[in-house]
Amino acid sequence: MAKVKTTFACQSCGSTYAKWQGKCTACGEWNTIVEEVIEKQEKGEVDWRESQESSSGKPRKLREVEVGESYRIDSGDSELNRVLGGGITPGSLVLMGGEPGIGKSTLLLQLAIKLKGWKVLYISGEESEKQIQQRALRLGHENEDCYILTETATHKVFHYIKELQPDIVVVDSIQTMQSRTIESTPGSVSQIRECTAEFQRFAKETNTPVFLVGHITKDGHIAGPKILEHIVDTVLQFEGDRNHVYRILRTIKNRFGSTAELGLYEMQGNGLRIVENPSEILITQKDENMGGVAIAATMEGMRPMLIEVQALVSTAFYGTPQRSATGFDAKRLNMLLAVLEKRVGVNIGTKDVFLNIAGGLRVEDPAIDLAIVAALMSSYQDVAISMKYAFAGEVGLSGEVRAVNRVEQRIQEAEKLGFEKIYISKYNFGKRNNMPKFKIEVVPIAKVYELLKHLDL
Ligand code: TYD
Ligand code: MG
Repeated sequence: MAKVKTTFACQSCGSTYAKWQGKCTACGEWNTIVEEVIEKQEKGEVDWRESQESSSGKPRKLREVEVGESYRIDSGDSELNRVLGGGITPGSLVLMGGEPGIGKSTLLLQLAIKLKGWKVLYISGEESEKQIQQRALRLGHENEDCYILTETATHKVFHYIKELQPDIVVVDSIQTMQSRTIESTPGSVSQIRECTAEFQRFAKETNTPVFLVGHITKDGHIAGPKILEHIVDTVLQFEGDRNHVYRILRTIKNRFGSTAELGLYEMQGNGLRIVENPSEILITQKDENMGGVAIAATMEGMRPMLIEVQALVSTAFYGTPQRSATGFDAKRLNMLLAVLEKRVGVNIGTKDVFLNIAGGLRVEDPAIDLAIVAALMSSYQDVAISMKYAFAGEVGLSGEVRAVNRVEQRIQEAEKLGFEKIYISKYNFGKRNNMPKFKIEVVPIAKVYELLKHLDL
């Protein structure tokens, strides 16, 4: 028997060490180093690499490489097409990450069973055939050429792939796959890395797109080393609040398109439905005006979206006031409160403050600041802001309203949705007043207190 060879690998960055140590010197993480068994493949065994003639060995002139048409497969899902940069690229390896229960399996199974005219193989290491079939029936099974395989050993998976010759392969999930060239357990760094590399070789050599599902660790990283993200072509992240129905599909990395793209879905009883007009659902449709509510004209990726911000400012009953923010950075909320306290002279520091972004979305666009300030002050003063007003501006430490990107798109979206007024930074269109004509009234603001004066707050 061959001697068992082990190494100590960091589960975070993938660095290997000869001995165990508490801290990874490469990435600085603690307690991430785990012993793993590595064993080289025995002679006589073959895997995907060796069974294929290599075409990528010799150096070639870049000019002589045939590109063919930059062809994309239409996934039948406009949101997925969008985040992939215009459809599925043949030979691409796509990693989809997300918390458990967010809907990764649902989305990819939906892709597999709705993609008519393509032979799709859905490999599951997590669910039984029966479970998958039950779910497929619920989602509405349409593709006659959809195959499922419940297998975790990659050499067997590749055996069936060779037999079946699918056009698209889905692997749910990469953490359950096991390559026999390495002896450590499924889910360990070396296994994940090896299995991903095997699927990558397969994808590149046969020009078949492969989707990998990847689990996410507690702190939001795709389990396994960062190296995984380097191997694959595209990293998508499926996020959202499990208690809300909306889900966001974000591009983290894409070799075939922009990373600023974003797809929006709604989880329903029969699967994920595309949200075509995000603004309409993210605003409570009510005619009456409510205190503490303001509407932000944000950009999520390349898409303008109007989102409702709700704030509640109330008297604190305990010594230390409470601050709580859902869907927004709590530190940034504290900063905005400090600006109101110091630059506007509002005595808000002693109040309890709650902030909520509608729809369970998480907004990182700084342009939402102005709407947050407006909502906070509206609740503080108990004066409602018209639901026909929108806001887009970043608030700086001295209380100035800073310019935001793509302001024209934001204004146009607000105009399209029938808003009457939009407040933006004065600096967005420069000093020369080169603002294009809009039907909606555009109000430029330089300082936060100016905005409050405008709104009678
Ligand atoms: P799942 O896709 O298994 O999540 P993941 O693979 O990311 O772990 O399931 C997501 C959740 O969605 C599950 O808790 C049940 C719910 N769901 C629906 O609400 N409607 C549906 O049609 C399906 C299939 C699932
Ligand atoms: Mg799953």
